[in-house]
Amino acid sequence: MFRELNNGKCKTYLLTSEGMERAVIIDPIKERVERYLGVLAYHRLKLDLIVDTHTHADHRSGAHELSQLTGTAVAMHRRAPAPHVAMHLEDGQRLIVGDFELKVLYTPGHTPDSISLCAGDRVFTGDCLLIHGTGRADFAGGDAGEQYDSITQKLFALPDSTLVYPAHDYRGHLHSTIGEEKSSNPRVAGHSREAYVELMNNLGLPLPEGIQEALQPNQTEIEAAAIHFPTLSQLNSVRQRSPAEVAALAAGANAPLLLDVREPEEYTGELGHIASARLIPLRELPSRAEAELMPFKGTDVVVICRAGVRSVTAAAILTGLGFEKICSMQGGMLDWNDAGLPVER
Ligand SMILES: [Fe+2]
Repeated sequence: MFRELNNGKCKTYLLTSEGMERAVIIDPIKERVERYLGVLAYHRLKLDLIVDTHTHADHRSGAHELSQLTGTAVAMHRRAPAPHVAMHLEDGQRLIVGDFELKVLYTPGHTPDSISLCAGDRVFTGDCLLIHGTGRADFAGGDAGEQYDSITQKLFALPDSTLVYPAHDYRGHLHSTIGEEKSSNPRVAGHSREAYVELMNNLGLPLPEGIQEALQPNQTEIEAAAIHFPTLSQLNSVRQRSPAEVAALAAGANAPLLLDVREPEEYTGELGHIASARLIPLRELPSRAEAELMPFKGTDVVVICRAGVRSVTAAAILTGLGFEKICSMQGGMLDWNDAGLPVER
């Protein structure tokens, strides 16, 4: 069985194994979680895996809630910033569900954590490749050049007959094919990389309404009612430092406070933490900062997380509380590890 579950502009896909026992849900949306549970129960399906193709900015993801209610793991690309992603995916990885297989293609550009999923004769393209369009690349760490490469080198390398199922469609289409998009996608067909970047950087689209209200909870798994999230301009004014710069500062005289805002299990998890980094999870930061970080109000503080996304939120919150010399470590512990810098666990 294969089904799109929302009948709307946001697409959520249900795939089940041949014997209809095992299921995967791709890109669940929060407001429809009860509907998904109903469908699973009606068909007596065991939900094996929940996948988000990327960190969504235009709607609340239902992945975390569906995971909490069913005990099913959430899988996302390793660049995904959210704390409770149980499976971090890499390009080329294969996910086995009952008698079928999903192959992960890393297709960044719309966001740094965008993946596509190949399953038999079809590919789920998230917001990288849409039907006769492409997902915008001008927010949430997007990169139009990377997106062009993802589309032309990875997705267009699939057989022309491959069915394309995107995460969104605004014009009532259900699917397309790779061949059709290759020959007639108006943004990509016949366009050079340079022309595509030029086009995407000049779309002049307004930011989606309520983008931060969706994006911040999706990135942090913290509800907007539980924390006062910074505005976009506050986030944009946070200073960034590379892991190499942070390592040099930490080794020098007047070392900054290294403040790690991940969850405790991430601090001691696979990416480890920087020696001497102090842990205050983001969700606790507003209530603990004044009491515990008072001595650092005028001194250098470097905020650290997994992917360098939650740390920007934390840095903006601290700036709002009167901390003066705050910066965020770019790329988080992912880039720190990729740079081969030392960690403790
Ligand atoms: Fe998206």
